Amino acid sequence: MDMGRRILLGVTGSIAAYKAAELVRLFVKNGDEVRVVMTPAATKFVGPLTFQTLSRNPVYIEEFDRPAEWRPEHISLADCDIAVVAPASANTIAKLRYGLADNLLTSTLLATRAPVVLAPAMNDGMWESPVTQENVAALAARGVKVLVPGTGELACGTVGLGRMPEPADIFAALAAS
Ligand SMILES: Cc1cc2nc3c(=O)[nH]c(=O)nc-3n(C[C@H](O)[C@H](O)[C@H](O)COP(=O)(O)O)c2cc1C
Repeated sequence: MDMGRRILLGVTGSIAAYKAAELVRLFVKNGDEVRVVMTPAATKFVGPLTFQTLSRNPVYIEEFDRPAEWRPEHISLADCDIAVVAPASANTIAKLRYGLADNLLTSTLLATRAPVVLAPAMNDGMWESPVTQENVAALAARGVKVLVPGTGELACGTVGLGRMPEPADIFAALAAS
């Protein structure tokens, strides 16, 4: 597998955000350079310090923070080899479908020319809703790789499709991208 890839990891507001920490560990172990961008909602689930320590890089959250260099952060972060959003919330998937750029993660994903991989994670009702299915199909038709969520017990207490793919499976899917 390629080592030393520049990976942008987007983390959104889902209970599955804690699993993204394991994904960062797998990338770093592989010799990849990981930059994590969290949505403000994601910070309600896992502290940025976890991702900062595991990725050995600053974590990016606020679009209007003063960047360390002159280029706006969404432009420098967009310059990566591959962008993966894990977990990808229904909300962020909908925004990506329509090209919204209302936070640092969505702005960066709109600007990037790198391949984009999404690992959805949500309640089974959210996943199966026609609008989410339409959004996912539209993104896939545009070349975005959308991983299929797993079936099982969901954090909301129901059982169904919506579990984020396991970090090892996301890691393997990226090797194939
Ligand atoms: C406890 C809790 C768990 C949530 N889990 C999910 C989830 O797994 N998937 C999802 O799409 N939304 C989930 N949500 C809702 C999102 O956090 C919400 O839609 C948020 O606006 C997403 O913002 P973001 O896409 O900018 O991260 C959850 C909300 C709460 C309060």
